[in-house]
Amino acid sequence: KFEKIWLIFGIGALVVFLSVVGVSAFYLGNKPPSCLTTIDPKKVDTEAPFDKPGLNKVEGKEWDYELVYVASAFFYNPGEVEVPLGAKVKVIATTKDVVHGFQVAGTNINMMLEPGYVNEIVTTFDKEGEYLVVCNEYCGTGHHLMSSKIKVV
Ligand code: CUA
Repeated sequence: KFEKIWLIFGIGALVVFLSVVGVSAFYLGNKPPSCLTTIDPKKVDTEAPFDKPGLNKVEGKEWDYELVYVASAFFYNPGEVEVPLGAKVKVIATTKDVVHGFQVAGTNINMMLEPGYVNEIVTTFDKEGEYLVVCNEYCGTGHHLMSSKIKVV
């Protein structure tokens, strides 16, 4: 008899939980944090700024450079980039396939790249050295190989 009560209680709790998640995701339109824009993941290669991955100098903006990344299993494009010391850089990143991480070791940059969404962060590299970009979201068999390098010179 008690089993039945607990079963109903368990199912009830599950229903409540799922509706809370559902409502927050669809009704309130929750999106991943640090995400401003959306993009069609199938067209990433042809759509600006992702048609030109890498460091691009820009004029008339609050930042000096845009550093564009396209992530896909299991690498980043570009795989290595040189950034001038002290430059104000807007990092713009997205993924072509599945969820990837984008963490720059030794900085406060840590983003979650989701297909269809564009992540942006403005930062200044004011310390010389090599920074490792790593994927911190499990994305498949090559997850541990996925990295890129930022050289600040
Ligand atoms: Cu990409 Cu893990």
